[in-house]
Amino acid sequence: MFISGVGRTKFGPLAESLPQLLYEAVSKALEDAGIGYEDLDAAYVANFCAGPFVGQLHMNSLLASLLPGTHLPIVRVETACASGASALFQAGLALSRFRTVLVAGVEKMSTVQGSLAATNIGMAGDAELDGPAGLIFPASYALIASAHMAEHGSTLDDLSLVSLKNHENASLNPLAHFYHKRVTLEDINSSATVCSPLRLFDCSPISDGAAALVVSAERRSDREVRVVGSALATDTLSLAERDTITSFAAVRLAAAQAYRQAGIGPKDVDVVEAHDCFTIMELIALEDLGFCEPGEGKDLVREGRTSREGDIPVNVDGGLKADGHPIGASGIAQIFELVTQLRGEAGPRQIPGARIGLAHSVGGVGGTSAVHILRKDN
Ligand code: COA
Repeated sequence: MFISGVGRTKFGPLAESLPQLLYEAVSKALEDAGIGYEDLDAAYVANFCAGPFVGQLHMNSLLASLLPGTHLPIVRVETACASGASALFQAGLALSRFRTVLVAGVEKMSTVQGSLAATNIGMAGDAELDGPAGLIFPASYALIASAHMAEHGSTLDDLSLVSLKNHENASLNPLAHFYHKRVTLEDINSSATVCSPLRLFDCSPISDGAAALVVSAERRSDREVRVVGSALATDTLSLAERDTITSFAAVRLAAAQAYRQAGIGPKDVDVVEAHDCFTIMELIALEDLGFCEPGEGKDLVREGRTSREGDIPVNVDGGLKADGHPIGASGIAQIFELVTQLRGEAGPRQIPGARIGLAHSVGGVGGTSAVHILRKDN
């Protein structure tokens, strides 16, 4: 599978409606691929929660309205926060039948405030076992952070370093939710507790946004980036049914498959997009993706190895933490960033010579994980 075109909107609280955001991202991806929508054979649209957030379901037909006269086969993909990455996984499978497939993701979340947003997002968790125990997302990840700290000695200061790095990276990404916000360690450390031990700056924000890709069965130009690994794995919905909450089996399985397909290992990866919906997830991602042993994620962060200048640059676009997290679009925005990096078009945040990129996307609290590995061949 080749990525022929990428496009995205700015992320953040935006004035545009959901269809407007989707249209902008799709138009940019088609333009980048140098094709029109009449050249598409099929499409997948990733969206998590437009029902409760904007009162709109039937996303595949909504996308069809933006591609008039095509009557394409379009299917909505929903796997919580991994929806975008799962749509790309599906598109890879569809290329056995189609030549050119659109993968688009969108979420409009700023329409509702505070606790209602948390309730809507919480629908990605287990409603029978975990929900009644109060495990909305910040609470689940607070439990995970506490357990990781107790097991491995990671600290709140380590989480602050993840947040600081990702906010610094976002300040180089004009499309990021927090592009204009200058953030210091003091801001992070003094921010309000959301659910102990996690503070405001340990959380990804509530964002609007859309992103899109055009994927093709054959290479058509030398700007194209090849997807050399595409894997998806799942796990139980409830945290109560897991053996551990400091590591995610779905991530480890998807990563192992993707590395095998690509014929590479973690040491070969030049740039990483990790699913840092909460800062603790970036530490666990480093461990589950094999960049270090369990519990050593904190050491990579402390040594600066995950910064833009380090040997494992992570979330150069700001990550979900600071680029933003419009749920259906996030996994696709990770691919947008990797393609931009591998093409050498990332401007001031470019990782010199980046050739292999890895994207790690997680749905819910590890109930779904998709891992993609991209390579630029020339
Ligand atoms: N990080 C940093 N700053 C944030 C922020 C975040 N995650 N969320 C909001 N802010 C800032 C806003 O920009 C605003 O700043 P300003 O006063 O300078 O304009 C201020 O905090 C208040 O914003 P508001 O929207 O009122 O925040 P809130 O208290 O309603 O929401 C959270 C904060 C953390 C509860 C919300 O961002 C949240 O629920 N995040 C988690 C989302 C989630 O679970 N996603 C799925 C992951 S699996």
